[in-house]
Parts: sequence; C-alpha cells; structure tokens
Amino acid sequence: MYLTFEEERILKGFEGEAKARALEVIVRVGEALGASRLIRIKHAHISGVSYENIGDVGLEFIEGLRGLGARFSVPTSVNPVSYDVEDLSSIPGVTLERSYVEAQEAIARALRDMGADLVFTCTPYYAGIPEVYELKVGDHVAWGESSAVAYANSVLGIRTNREGGPLALMAAIAGRTYYYGMHVEEERKPRVSYALEPLVTLDEVEAGILGEIVARMHKDERPPHLVALFEGDSALKELLAALGTVSDIAMAHIQGVTPEDPGGEIKETVKIDYDMLEEELREKMPTEGVDIIYIGCPHSGLEEISKLARTLEAASPVKARIAVSMSRNVYLKALELGLVEKLRRAKATIIRGSCLIVSPFSKHNKGVKVATNSYKAYHYLSRKGVKVYLTRISDIQNHAKT
Ligand code: F3S
Repeated sequence: MYLTFEEERILKGFEGEAKARALEVIVRVGEALGASRLIRIKHAHISGVSYENIGDVGLEFIEGLRGLGARFSVPTSVNPVSYDVEDLSSIPGVTLERSYVEAQEAIARALRDMGADLVFTCTPYYAGIPEVYELKVGDHVAWGESSAVAYANSVLGIRTNREGGPLALMAAIAGRTYYYGMHVEEERKPRVSYALEPLVTLDEVEAGILGEIVARMHKDERPPHLVALFEGDSALKELLAALGTVSDIAMAHIQGVTPEDPGGEIKETVKIDYDMLEEELREKMPTEGVDIIYIGCPHSGLEEISKLARTLEAASPVKARIAVSMSRNVYLKALELGLVEKLRRAKATIIRGSCLIVSPFSKHNKGVKVATNSYKAYHYLSRKGVKVYLTRISDIQNHAKT
C-alpha cells in the first residue's frame, strides 16, 4: 500500500504509540482487502459501546487504548449505551446492579477522555452534531452502526464503509481509513435495480419490509438501485436499517433521494410486487394484544416523534406501555417543541441514549409481547427470544392491550 511521508512517520510512532498502533491496524486491514492507499476522514462514529454488548473485554480494550494515550484525530460520536443515562428506570422491566452501571460509566469515561462527543445515538444525522451537519456530499467518514452507514451513503451522499466498532475506533484515532469499497466512486455505481410495482408511497413499516426483501434478493457486490417512494425520512431510516440488518449492504442508490449520479451500468431490473410486501407485513402483525409498543429503532427524529405524539393524542388510553427511544439532543429539541409533553400525557416512556436491543431488556422481560414499527428491532428482539410483531404507528391502538 502506498503511504505518504506523514503516514510513515505516524507508523514509526512520531505521533505516539496509540496512533501508530491504530494506523497499523488500518493499514493491515486495507492491505488484506487490496486497498492501494489510505484516505483522510472528516468524522467517525463508533458502535459497540454498550456494556451489554461488549462486556468486560470491550471495556478493557477501550480503557487500554486510553491508557496508551489514544486521542481521536477527528470529531467522533458514539452509539447508544445499555441504559438511559438520565433515567435508569426507563427501560421497561429492567433494574440494574450498581456494578453494571459503573462498568458502562467507565466505557463512556474512557471514550470521553479520548475526545468523543457522548451523543449516544445510532442516528447521528438527527442529533444536532455540527460536524455531521457540515459534512458535504462526497466527504469521507468512518462510521460503525450499519443503519447509520447505509443512511450516510444513501441519503447524505457521504462515503463510508461498514466499519466494525473496533475499526471505526482505530480510524478515529488514526484520522484515516483504507481507500476501498464505498470510498471508491466506481464501487458505488449500481448494476441491479429493484422497482416497486405499483409505485405507491411506503410508510415506515412497509419501507422496512422492502429493505428486508431487497437485502435477501441482492447478490451483486455493488449497491442495489431502488425505484420506490417513501412517506418521509423515518421511512428511509427504516428501509436502510432493515437493509443493513439482513445483509452487509452499506448503501442503496434510491432514485430521487441519493444525491449522486447512479451511472449507466444497470444490467438488470427486478420487479417487487407491492402485494408481496403487504402479505409479508400481514404475517408479522399482532394476532393478540401486545404489552409494549416500541418506536425508535434506529433512534427517532422529530418527524417520527411528531407522528407518534399526534397518534397518541387522538387515541384513547391503552394498557400497553409505549416506549420510544431517541438521542438526548433530539429529546431536548422535542421538549422545546412541546412533543415530550404530549408523549408524557399519553404515558409514553422516553428512552434517551439507549434502546430495547442494546440494553438488558430481553433478559428481564420473558413472555412480554412487543410490537414495533422497526424491522430491525423486530429482527433483533425476535433473536433475543422476545415475542415481537410489526405495527404501524397509526395502528398502535388496534394492537395494544386495552
Ligand atoms: Fe439503534 Fe438500538 Fe436500533 S442502537 S439501530 S435503536 S438496535
């Protein structure tokens, strides 16, 4: 791999041992993939920071890097943690041991000491992070968190591969990643197109199902091209989260959304029947009243929160617990706009900086039935043994226990 003079110096330790080690990892992975050079990044987003997911091994790894003097070379944000840092009781049915809380706090402290912005969200694009808003089409970043990666490439037009948590961490320290995959212009040009027929506008749950169907069908190495219409940004969020859940796809070229030229290499168009999508959705809808309705995987933005608040305002009280997860920054904005008050009036539980999947929710809620508008949450909660269904926000009243 070609390395600049500055990169050679970093590898030799002129900028500290931690940065040298981080860059060495990036170079080795890049060489294994066949990358010809490195590329500077403007931002990093680190996944795998929940103690529930990474445990003591992850904690020691992150603390070890801090101990070596590691500092992030670029603005760096982080994914959700294993509980709501401002209200330990907000994850339904979960009571945490002091030692568990302390371990999560230690992870957050080490990341903060290295320079991370502790936004604790999987939707950094909603969280009011100035360095993310300033990113322009064509900018290179290193993001972990598959749903955010797919959104970054497909909606924001910024370039990132699907970095695993440790690799995003190394890239953040090194300030560089390998020039490969989604960073390379030609690799982003689709060759297979998927067209929804008839071309109706999909809501967030239908969008998630479409993402799952495309992810299962798509075998080409290049990103899929999509011809479909979406109700709003939360539908795009759910589409891309589902795509990243079922496959390792890092981008979809969405007609009318993705801010770049798809090129002229489409060789095949696959039709996706809307009825097939609806049939799959019907199979996954509740057949009984559920205990918890969960919204906000990936973390909700204001559009989704407004829709939920409007629906709950118009609905009569239900026995099911409504839980919605979002970043702390989006929470503060929703508070300012009066949306939090509307949610609280409907007795909704707000989870800030965490979610039902990266928290110990499933361990403490055996036998509980959940409905969600997120295909990603449906997928992971099912795998964790929770009985889970899909519901539209507008159908909450029909599916909750009354
Ligand atoms: Fe985010 Fe948790 Fe879903 S981290 S993408 S809300 S699984």
